[in-house]
Amino acid sequence: MNAPTMQGLNINAPAYVKNARLLAWVADMAALCKPDRIYWCDGSQEEYDRLCQQLVDAGTFKKLNPAKRPGSFLAWSDPSDVARVEDRTFICSARKEDAGPTNNWMDPAQMRATLQPLFDGCMQGRTMYVVPFSMGPLGSHIAHIGVELTDSAYVAVNQKLMTRMGKAVYDVLGVEGEFVPCMHTVGAPLAAGEKDQTSWPCNPTTKYIVHYPETREIWSYGSGYGGNALLGKKCLALRIASTMGRDQGWLAEHMLILGVTNPQGKKYHVAAAFPSACGKTNFSMLVPPAGFDGWKVTTIGDDIAWIKPHADGKMYAINPEAGYFGVAPGTNTLTNPNCMASLDKDVIFTNVALTDDGDVWWEGMEKDQGKLPEHLIDWQGKDWTPEIAKQTGAKAAHPNARFTVAATNNPALDPQWDDASGVAIDAFIFGGRRSTTVPLVTEARTWMEGVYMAATMGSETTAAAFGAQGVVRRDPFAMLPFCGYNMSDYFQHWLDMEHKLEESGHSLPKIFCVNWFRKGEDGKFVWPGYGDNMRVLKWMLDRIEGQAQGQETMFGIAPRYEEINWTGLSFTPEQFKTVTSIDKAAWAEEFKSHDAHFELLSYHMPQELIDTKAALEQRLAAL
Ligand code: GTP
Ligand code: SPV
Ligand code: MN
Repeated sequence: MNAPTMQGLNINAPAYVKNARLLAWVADMAALCKPDRIYWCDGSQEEYDRLCQQLVDAGTFKKLNPAKRPGSFLAWSDPSDVARVEDRTFICSARKEDAGPTNNWMDPAQMRATLQPLFDGCMQGRTMYVVPFSMGPLGSHIAHIGVELTDSAYVAVNQKLMTRMGKAVYDVLGVEGEFVPCMHTVGAPLAAGEKDQTSWPCNPTTKYIVHYPETREIWSYGSGYGGNALLGKKCLALRIASTMGRDQGWLAEHMLILGVTNPQGKKYHVAAAFPSACGKTNFSMLVPPAGFDGWKVTTIGDDIAWIKPHADGKMYAINPEAGYFGVAPGTNTLTNPNCMASLDKDVIFTNVALTDDGDVWWEGMEKDQGKLPEHLIDWQGKDWTPEIAKQTGAKAAHPNARFTVAATNNPALDPQWDDASGVAIDAFIFGGRRSTTVPLVTEARTWMEGVYMAATMGSETTAAAFGAQGVVRRDPFAMLPFCGYNMSDYFQHWLDMEHKLEESGHSLPKIFCVNWFRKGEDGKFVWPGYGDNMRVLKWMLDRIEGQAQGQETMFGIAPRYEEINWTGLSFTPEQFKTVTSIDKAAWAEEFKSHDAHFELLSYHMPQELIDTKAALEQRLAAL
């Protein structure tokens, strides 16, 4: 043991942990949080199984029927702790301007003073788990290491699936290596001898998700759910990483990465940013429909991309994660067969319903099963029947119910998913959830126009974040809740990429804007979506190859009806018009909303984007 002893608590570090800063930090944090014991995770399967069993014993996990869902568990959270809490998320940069108008900000000293008494003794009666993880392939020059200290065993086992977690991280860290310290507590200390009254301890009234970008620290208090608690994901790989990217000349994005191979064997790579619960996981696992024989789509990542310009003039992307924390409701073998196959075994489900035979269920599965189940226990532990659902509207699964699963479970996993050098990106796609106005697909005429499209993207809000749902808000680059610095500076950073890449004499990836979610007068989605999104993807590849002429519209280049492969789908020119038309009045309103958005972001707003807006408005006026 090479462990210092603080206030009578031996931090019990294994001999293979040699990083001086880490040892000192764990000792300091143990002194602050006052856990009953410290447990150093080694990331082994034996440890995972043991912690899962411990969660079963504590009532947090239900073991699912091994005949139906081997190696899998179900957790139900506290009803107050079901999604990210954006209004409790803070970027505490030294200067308020550096957090920008779209982030909550507090002076770092004031925030530290606020958090200090909350963290003091916050782990009493609990175990502090030391969770070492790598975002990106272990030891890769692109990867970053984090260490999460948490009093939640649920977090520890989720991190095993979501990241490269375990002992090997310490070899990379060595004596002097750097890591991002990630403090996490559910904020529910126990008095001496007190036992949990709940299977999902959290703090129902006080939550803080705090980032200090300058010192690269994360402090999360009061929630055990998703992005609030699995700190490698949104906190490190997006909010902290985006500030690293700004300083070091790369991009950390809320993007899936997919590979698409044509029947001739040529492979392309596409990165796509859609807001939370707007189709990234689905698109990244797309199964090409009828009419696409010989085409193959493979997943590199489903949520986050780190993208770096390379000396060869291309942009290379890696997925820093090693698993998926995906939306369950709506997923079935019709919409996403690869995802359903990924969920056959070794899954942690959170907030889905339990069937009478010990399996899971969520809204959307009835499409596979041909009927609704007769009886379930819903995510709040109550009886659910189709009758009750009809009367009360009660959902069996929470709309933000999720699965956690290792990427290696995915049958469509790309062979290069773990490649430290990443894949060269041929196109970027941006897409919001808009029932009106925004067309199915357009291609930006220039990088600048693409950045404009992304910067002004709007989306109807979803259950992925706590708060009102279905209202349109601007969600630039799908990064509104995840950009760790001033949004206008982030736009500038994207604009600067163009010059950087052009200097090395290469063409930039094309930028496309999509919307799968336009609705008809009957209130239903007009575009079939899911696998049929391949039809749009293929048109993009044709554009890259110069094989589709497209047509000019106000908002970029759009496909002609006959340029899309319609084999196996009956979709009339009239329907096509419904999803591609540009309504002059609606766009006039849209630009007004862009005005308000630019007004909010006026500090450091790049002049080129304001000019691009004026040019687009002129095009609109000429219609
Ligand atoms: P996060 O994990 O929150 O970042 O979300 P995500 O972007 O990965 O979302 P996901 O792929 O899990 O999609 C969630 C929701 O979008 C589900 O309700 C899906 O049914 C719906 N969805 C996904 N793709 C499509 C599509 O092409 N058309 C329609 N209409 N709905 C879609
Ligand atoms: C999102 O909300 O975009 C997610 C889920 O990917 S969470 O990890 O909870 O942020
Ligand atoms: Mn996401």
